[in-house]
Amino acid sequence: MTAIEPSDTVRLTVNGAPAEVNAAPHDRLVDMLRGPLGLTGAAIGCDTAVCGACTVLLDGCAVKSCTVLALQANDTDVVTVEGLATPDSLNTLQDAFLRHGAVQCGYCTAGMLVAGVDLLNRHGASLDEATIRNGISGNLCRCTGYRSIVSAIAEAAAALAAEDGRAR
Ligand code: FES
Ligand code: FES
Repeated sequence: MTAIEPSDTVRLTVNGAPAEVNAAPHDRLVDMLRGPLGLTGAAIGCDTAVCGACTVLLDGCAVKSCTVLALQANDTDVVTVEGLATPDSLNTLQDAFLRHGAVQCGYCTAGMLVAGVDLLNRHGASLDEATIRNGISGNLCRCTGYRSIVSAIAEAAAALAAEDGRAR
């Protein structure tokens, strides 16, 4: 029988930078991000894969980081809400959230932004309202600001469409 190691080293890329963290077999990705990596944007809301507050991109796909073991993130590329903006500017979706007042208490916001980026990456300028509503159905906003959040994601998709038009 193989002995369970008390901890192991996780090597991954986080927001574009290499990182190396010791993790125990039961540590979750969200704990590793919020603890040793100091990235507290991904919030813990439910701990049961319901609320989506802990959503991050793992190898480009939105995942609920409370459902991923830290060791499973070895050799992956993780992007958290902290990685969406540059020091000088917000990204298009963050700008749209501000313009639409899509933030109230802010608890869901990191997860909503990451879920929105995932939708924009997958659907680009063709992202429509039904797809947005379906795409964020795993992210709960206790302040119930869904209308503004959907409008902000739709506006970011429209901005992408306008950029595509200019590029042609
Ligand atoms: S804390 Fe992960 S889904 Fe709620
Ligand atoms: S803004 Fe408060 S939970 Fe969404």
